[in-house]
Amino acid sequence: MDTEKAYREIVALAGGRDAARAVVNYLHDRLPASSWVGLYWVAGRDLVLGEWTGPEATEHTRIPIGRDVCGAAAASGRTEVVSDVSKDPRYLACFPPTKAEIVVPIVAAGKVIGEIDVDGRELNAFGPKDQRFLERVAEVLARMRVGER
Ligand code: SME
Repeated sequence: MDTEKAYREIVALAGGRDAARAVVNYLHDRLPASSWVGLYWVAGRDLVLGEWTGPEATEHTRIPIGRDVCGAAAASGRTEVVSDVSKDPRYLACFPPTKAEIVVPIVAAGKVIGEIDVDGRELNAFGPKDQRFLERVAEVLARMRVGER
């Protein structure tokens, strides 16, 4: 994937209507390793599922901050890259085919306000290039979300 081109396209999408959904759809279509893409937004002490795209819905629509992989990333403010979910005791299974996951916090004014959660069907689905790209996308989403309020 040409991440520079993808980044420019994401920035363009973020200016439009229903921008978070457009960004999620874009990531699901264009990020080769992704099988499911969702945004969780912080609500009190929980993460609450917002926009998502994938073959099926997850029953985990509310995850306490600090729990599971999603909650760990929200608590630390740092990206979690899980190359083999079967080896991570924090992993909360949503979809049987998922083998790897990346969770990228969305940070605004020093506070985690949400995160991007991407599942993949291959082991080691996400590398440093995906991490850098998604961290830039998270910055775009942070600016967009703050602009919405
Ligand atoms: N696997 C995540 C839960 C969210 S689902 O993947 C959509 C976790 O361990 O926190």
